[in-house]
Amino acid sequence: MLNAVERKIEQFIVELDDKEVMGLYAKFPQGKRLRAKLILKIAGNGLSVVKTAAVVEMIHAASLLHDDVIDDAYTRRSKPSLNALYGNKTAIMLGDILYSKGFFELNNISSEVAKIVSNAVTQLSLGELKDVSLSKIFNTDKEIYLDMIYQKTASLIEASAGAAAVLAGKPKEAYMTYGRNLGMAFQMIDDLLDITSDAVTLGKPALHDFVEGKTTLPYIYLYEALEQEEQQKLASLHAKELSDTDQSWIKMKMEEHQILLKCYAQAKELIEEAVELMNSNGEEALSDIALEMIERDF
Ligand code: FPP
Ligand code: MG
Repeated sequence: MLNAVERKIEQFIVELDDKEVMGLYAKFPQGKRLRAKLILKIAGNGLSVVKTAAVVEMIHAASLLHDDVIDDAYTRRSKPSLNALYGNKTAIMLGDILYSKGFFELNNISSEVAKIVSNAVTQLSLGELKDVSLSKIFNTDKEIYLDMIYQKTASLIEASAGAAAVLAGKPKEAYMTYGRNLGMAFQMIDDLLDITSDAVTLGKPALHDFVEGKTTLPYIYLYEALEQEEQQKLASLHAKELSDTDQSWIKMKMEEHQILLKCYAQAKELIEEAVELMNSNGEEALSDIALEMIERDF
């Protein structure tokens, strides 16, 4: 079924009638298509559903193209990012093209779907701005971090599930809660992987988030657990290149205070809530997608 979405995206890009854009898009490493998968699982494979899935994936791709410029990231999914290959200007413009074409197509679907998805794009842009601003300070406020990942990551997954529910005539609220929980858990696990995975698996150096100034949930919990002197040491390492000794110290302290387990348990709780909600709606396939999320290697 995902094939139909790939073909729809291709069709939308061909309609732009621009060889350069076709060539550039071909270089953008495709992901797992989580959002499209959710939409199809909730709403089947009718034309409006496939179009919605294609549009959401184009918006997601646009956001990653911009994000890699913002984050100075030279890899995406272990391949060179578009900004690494062609420079920031080209990556930003390709993002704008995918985003605006997606929006044009969104208007031909339904006004309720268009409202849900466009609101999520505002949210994810606000979330990205918060992420950037937060990385300039040593944030130790969990609620601020949770709000930021809701906006940056969960909002589009929540909207995908909500839009699909609208198309399928299913109860929107339950599906949006499912998508929100899934999105929050997804980002929490992603932030854990930044600490647990090696640089090769990750396609970027480990502990990269902290070096970039991002105090994700594990760092917030670690800070809470440390003695005052150690808290100062952690704060002094924030947003700097880390020596091997500093890296080992952070990892050792995380181990000592069982921080990763605590974060994992929090993500798992969100997934369990999502699974229960979907089971009670007779949507076992959606429960499986949620479970796969917390069974990723980490
Ligand atoms: C990845 O975060 C980034 C996002 C999930 C959202 C980025 C959103 C924008 C740049 C706004 C885009 C706006 C429009 C109009 C399309 P990350 O850096 O934590 O994850 P990563 O490790 O995958 O880079
Ligand atoms: Mg990034």
